[in-house]
Amino acid sequence: MKLQKSFILTLTTATMLSTSAMADTPVYLDRTKPIEQRVEDALSRMTLEEKVNLCHAQAKFSSYGVPRLGIPEIWMSDGPHGVRAEVNWNDWGYANWKNDSVTAFPALTALAATWNPELSAVYGKNVGEEARYREKDVLLGPGVNIYRTPLNGRNFEYMGEDPYLAGEMVVPYIVELQKNGVAACVKHFALNNQEKWRGNINVNLSDRALYEIYLPAFKRAVQDGKAWSIMGAYNKIWNEHCCHNQRLLNDILRGEWGFDGVVITDWGGAHDTKQAALNGLDIEMGSFTNGLTLEADFGFNDYYLADPYLEMIKRSEVPESTVNDKARNILRLIFRTAMNADKPFGSLASPEHYAAAKMIGDESIVLLKNTGILPLDPAKYKNILVVGENAVRKLNIGGGSSELKVKDMFSPLDAIKKVYGDGVKYAEGYRTGPSLYEQEVIIPAEILDSLSNQAVEMARGMDAVIYIGGLNKNGFQDCESSDRREYNLPWNQDKLIERLAEANPNIVIANISGNAYAMPWLDKVPAVLQSWYLGTMIGPSMVDVISGKINPSGKLPFSFPKRIEDVGAHSFGEYSYPGIEGTTAGNAASDLKGADVSAGKDPQQEYLEDIFVGYRWHDTKKIPALFPFGQGLSYTTFSYGKATASAKTMSADGNLTVTVPVTNTGSLEGKETVQLYIQDEKSSLPRPLKELKGFKKVNIKPGETTQVSFTITPDDLKFFDDRQHAWVAEPGKFKALIGTSSADIKTEVQFTLK
Ligand code: GLC
Repeated sequence: MKLQKSFILTLTTATMLSTSAMADTPVYLDRTKPIEQRVEDALSRMTLEEKVNLCHAQAKFSSYGVPRLGIPEIWMSDGPHGVRAEVNWNDWGYANWKNDSVTAFPALTALAATWNPELSAVYGKNVGEEARYREKDVLLGPGVNIYRTPLNGRNFEYMGEDPYLAGEMVVPYIVELQKNGVAACVKHFALNNQEKWRGNINVNLSDRALYEIYLPAFKRAVQDGKAWSIMGAYNKIWNEHCCHNQRLLNDILRGEWGFDGVVITDWGGAHDTKQAALNGLDIEMGSFTNGLTLEADFGFNDYYLADPYLEMIKRSEVPESTVNDKARNILRLIFRTAMNADKPFGSLASPEHYAAAKMIGDESIVLLKNTGILPLDPAKYKNILVVGENAVRKLNIGGGSSELKVKDMFSPLDAIKKVYGDGVKYAEGYRTGPSLYEQEVIIPAEILDSLSNQAVEMARGMDAVIYIGGLNKNGFQDCESSDRREYNLPWNQDKLIERLAEANPNIVIANISGNAYAMPWLDKVPAVLQSWYLGTMIGPSMVDVISGKINPSGKLPFSFPKRIEDVGAHSFGEYSYPGIEGTTAGNAASDLKGADVSAGKDPQQEYLEDIFVGYRWHDTKKIPALFPFGQGLSYTTFSYGKATASAKTMSADGNLTVTVPVTNTGSLEGKETVQLYIQDEKSSLPRPLKELKGFKKVNIKPGETTQVSFTITPDDLKFFDDRQHAWVAEPGKFKALIGTSSADIKTEVQFTLK
């Protein structure tokens, strides 16, 4: 009895203590309290110096917490495809840790090419687990800049040319990533659609192009993905840097969209204290660098939002309320991440993560052409020559900030050998040199010739040739901080492919790239697969599609024009792309006559193709692409029945359902992505011929028919009327076009908006 009594006494005392302790726990540390209360309580306890400190870096990839109050600092890491290796405290060198080898997930272009939002959720969950395990609070991705030109060095990091596809595919990634207590940092906001002059080019464009093409994916990321942070782009718009831009950040991002997260600069994207104080920036990172290589001997207290900002507040040159607003946003981010007590613990380079990477890669590969040679049956094809550097190259290295140190990288050549046996031979075919930034190693022609000759000789007499070339992560290829300088494949590949096809007609082209390229040899080859930077599982994914274990189901997230002149951005001279250096602000090409071209002024450009980007350009200008947006074949075949609509008219507040039967008319189970495009028959402002407003990826067994339905709402019919600064759906006739690509509409149904 005695023992029990004392035990109860102790328990009661402990409870009283803990209750009283709870009573004494400051609100900001009390997990039961709502975040906004914790934010206000923490803010009330902080000094001005501590608030200013929150607003800038303390290290290359970290910003301050409040040590005195036990509020943790924020740790950030690239990138969109996996967690970058640890970088030194204050230089771009790698810290050479031994615990940061990760899974390289497929590039986001590949994720977009799956047209499968469920895989986007898988992606976000798995990459989030790796970021969480590596104790990162912010993952610097995903990127959703629109694919305006096939020369943009960073298109491989983004989700293609259509804002609806990018928007649909970015939301699940963010939602699942953030369930790990890791913030997405959607980038690069906005109009960073090329790498040339990215640091200061001033982009001019119409509000229609801005609102209809370049903002929607960011808006979805903020409003539906609930992104906890966003990264300002390096470039300017309206002659103001995006990282501190009144209209872009205060009016649109926060005012129109209700963003409650944190705006983080791109590394080196801040350029002015007063603008940074007033125009919506919260955390300044990487100042006085170019985001990749340059260093400077500035201290972190020299940052624009460090001592200079503190001084301006003390001299009342900017209101103290600006730093309170920033601190609130940053504290909110800390409570959501570093101080989030409910977050899971993550995992690193696990079999589950490899399986996820493979699943995404499998569904991303696009079959563009197949006269019947594919799939290559391993029972029939024994003596195979694999040609091309991309069959062996470590494509996770290079490309800029998205590069990764991997635990494993299963190459296409190794995977092909595993499946097809020791009859597989390899020839380099061409050579490219190391991945360097803004420089290119020129391989002497005689080396390229000898590699080509050797490959062509080896090709003769083989059962089949699998060509694995394309682009890579070298400077001036698919790489940050420089754009491509040619639309054709580099390193004499076009010639090599023609010679190989002549030497052996059983050739499969399986290129790897993050951008479109010319295919002058297309008529000379029986099959073309478009693969992507698939990371760790690139080999298993590619060989499973080549051998038929996986039936390809990818669809192009961007058009493959025949030639660069067929691209909207390249149809209005250099002012449209890449812009003109050293000019004053010009609002149209005509303004540039006699423009001030003295050095030192920002490069200027104007998106003169306006809203007609990608298939919107090809359709409207009637310039067929070599392979259109949304294109992708299967090893089976699908047929579409007649689309029917639930009604002939739609009221302004109603909706309408369109249904189409799709049949698998082949002998293999397969997935088809059925696409819905909307056509406005008459509008008061120009509109593209059609706009993607829905897609469904369905798995259909041979001989079976699936009814695919889309619900169309008035929102799907709207365009942005920059005369009223509003989205409008004008009454009248519309068409729902159902297709297997943007250029292959199978059936359509007309309806009227009342
Ligand atoms: C780079 C990139 C950005 C990256 C950041 C940190 O310059 O533009 O995408 O997240 O700096 O590496």
